[in-house]
Amino acid sequence: MTSSATRHFFVTTALPYANGPFHIGHIMEYIQADIWVRFQRMVGNKVHFVCADDAHGAPIMLKAEAEGVTPEALVAGIAADRGKYLEGFQISFDYWHSTHSPENAELSTAIYRELKAAGLIYVKPVEQFYDPVKQMFLADRYIKGECPNCHSKDQYGDACEVCSSVYAPTDLIDPYSTLSGAVPVRKTSDHYFFKLSDPRCVEFLNGWLNAPGRLQPAVANKAREWLTTQGDQALSDWDISRDAPYFGIPIPDAPGKYFYVWLDAPIGYLASLKKYFDSGKARENGEPRTFDQFLSAPEVEQIHFIGKDIIYFHTLFWPAMLKFASRKVPDHVYVHGFITVSGAKMSKSRGTGISPLRYLEIGMNSEWLRYYLAAKLNANVEDIDFNPDDFMARVNSDLIGKYVNIASRAAGFITKRFEGKLLPVDGTRSVATAKWNELALQRETQIREYYEERELGKAVREIMELADAMNAAIDREKPWELAKDPAQATRLHEVCSDCIHAFRQLTLYLAPILPRTAERAAVLLGLEMPLRWSQLRDGGAGTIKPYEHLLQRVDPKQLEALFDFGVPKDKTEATASATAAPTGKSPEAGLAEIAIEDFAKIDLRVAKILQAEAVEGADKLLKLTLDIGDAQRTVFAGIRSAYTPEQLAGRLTVVLANLKPRKMRFGLSEGMVLAAGPGGKEIFLLSPDSGATAGMKVK
Ligand code: MSP
Ligand code: ZN
Repeated sequence: MTSSATRHFFVTTALPYANGPFHIGHIMEYIQADIWVRFQRMVGNKVHFVCADDAHGAPIMLKAEAEGVTPEALVAGIAADRGKYLEGFQISFDYWHSTHSPENAELSTAIYRELKAAGLIYVKPVEQFYDPVKQMFLADRYIKGECPNCHSKDQYGDACEVCSSVYAPTDLIDPYSTLSGAVPVRKTSDHYFFKLSDPRCVEFLNGWLNAPGRLQPAVANKAREWLTTQGDQALSDWDISRDAPYFGIPIPDAPGKYFYVWLDAPIGYLASLKKYFDSGKARENGEPRTFDQFLSAPEVEQIHFIGKDIIYFHTLFWPAMLKFASRKVPDHVYVHGFITVSGAKMSKSRGTGISPLRYLEIGMNSEWLRYYLAAKLNANVEDIDFNPDDFMARVNSDLIGKYVNIASRAAGFITKRFEGKLLPVDGTRSVATAKWNELALQRETQIREYYEERELGKAVREIMELADAMNAAIDREKPWELAKDPAQATRLHEVCSDCIHAFRQLTLYLAPILPRTAERAAVLLGLEMPLRWSQLRDGGAGTIKPYEHLLQRVDPKQLEALFDFGVPKDKTEATASATAAPTGKSPEAGLAEIAIEDFAKIDLRVAKILQAEAVEGADKLLKLTLDIGDAQRTVFAGIRSAYTPEQLAGRLTVVLANLKPRKMRFGLSEGMVLAAGPGGKEIFLLSPDSGATAGMKVK
């Protein structure tokens, strides 16, 4: 190892809202951070890695109310499920806590008092909409009304989804509360503010965010922009209080007032760490210090992994709060982009994306996802896409075809012909595989830097190049042919020993990404656990255990199962695709009579096909982007045998708009276009007479 002293880290990921199970975006964040943390541990650094549920706030309070349970019970139910995801994806948190905890109440109260003592808290009356039926103040998202600009109905209190104009909730025409339907009234109440605009805060933040290497350049730019904007958009003070009823932490000496959830949420990072220390777990992990000693030690580096949507909170409020409460400030905030699935943004309400639990339940290997995400992640704030075909190709060709292959080609010979004994690494031998070890060690510094810098994709590329080089050398030596000639026994032994040494080094390089496979490989290789980076240079003669299969290939059926759930197995791609799927038969006889009320449940509308495109990997489907009046929809239609995309763009048709959206391998299909005909070339899309426009109801 070249690094000098052991580094000490306190690492967190963003605290997920405790109003729902994890989605794939959460898992991606944890995997990114976990790989980095495991790497640090492997090179000998000490890491305490914690997270917690973000339990407070109005949405959780209202959700609990709707479900007829207390917020505490709602949050506890969510918390009870966290473990199976975290274990399933091998996320090595040292502690998982909750912001609804005594530790968090204590720390939030203490930090607030320190900020107040520093003269950074003041009270100011604020006029807001109030729901007289629910008897509570309404956040913007609970108010709807008519857009003051384009007059679309049912627009949210902050912005219009139709014309995109931004306004205050008080600008809405005919506003109503989405909670009770009541007309909200204006009401004034005292609010507590954190004085972010104070020159001391601004000066501190300027220094903090401009420290070299502290933030990714794009993140620092964004924060600098917020900090230096003048005039109307200038940095404003932060409203940190909410009136009862609220699920949160009471503000001391302020009856009926609670801390806004975003005040106590980041303090939850400290609360989780505190509980981890106080419970004795940190000590079990070899940490001799107390919580206070640890956090006041200057060498401890505090690092937060977060997504791009919560930069403001983490680069302005949070460091300033810590600074003026005389505490350690974050050393780095590492920001990642969002994950999309087959190019589609996730929507929590419609439940798109991949269900991480389903992924595990159908027996998919968590290390496939860890590897695939690692291969795509970098240190920039870029979105990444999960593409099922790409996922399968990548995992099967890299992990099985390149990495595991090296062991499986050689281990059998070592066991059967040489009693499991390896020859030591020796670059002077004449076989083609002998030089590889030197190459692998030459790349060490580079690979290590890539991990350190969170350039995981680059690290993976580097490692796979090494695997390619080894496989090429093996192909030159052809051990399977050497094995047929008894005179070549020594050569066979040399080549196969080189293979196993190479496999050991590749395993160590990949261990932060593939912890379970690495552990199983360690048993095979007789490596001491926990794995350490320094074992790269072991390379002596040793003995291996008989080879057991290490990693399965991705089976396309599993991907089908991951995406197409709810689809009957006997249906073909096209008929299962929520489209007009001509069956080739005459109208089915014997359908029961329905009442007009049944028909009224069907939302048929005129739709304009804005765009039509072929879907790679599905020769029956076209992907249609539809304008249905108040929104745009994506529909996968099984009509490619009868229409080219060019024939469709711009024309009108009829869509079943309230069909339950269906997850497909290619994305989400959000409706069905109507067509007649037996199928094949004979599919005939419906169209309205001229004069109809997108969004008109068909009745
Ligand atoms: N509770 C707040 C964070 C408080 S931190 C003191 C919150 N919770 S969240 O559940 O909405 O998001 C948690 C993390 O998941 C955030 O870092 C967020 O950026 C991340 N992601 C949410 N959707 C994501 C993707 N689609 N892709 C990747 N990460 C995403 O915000
Ligand atoms: Zn509008």
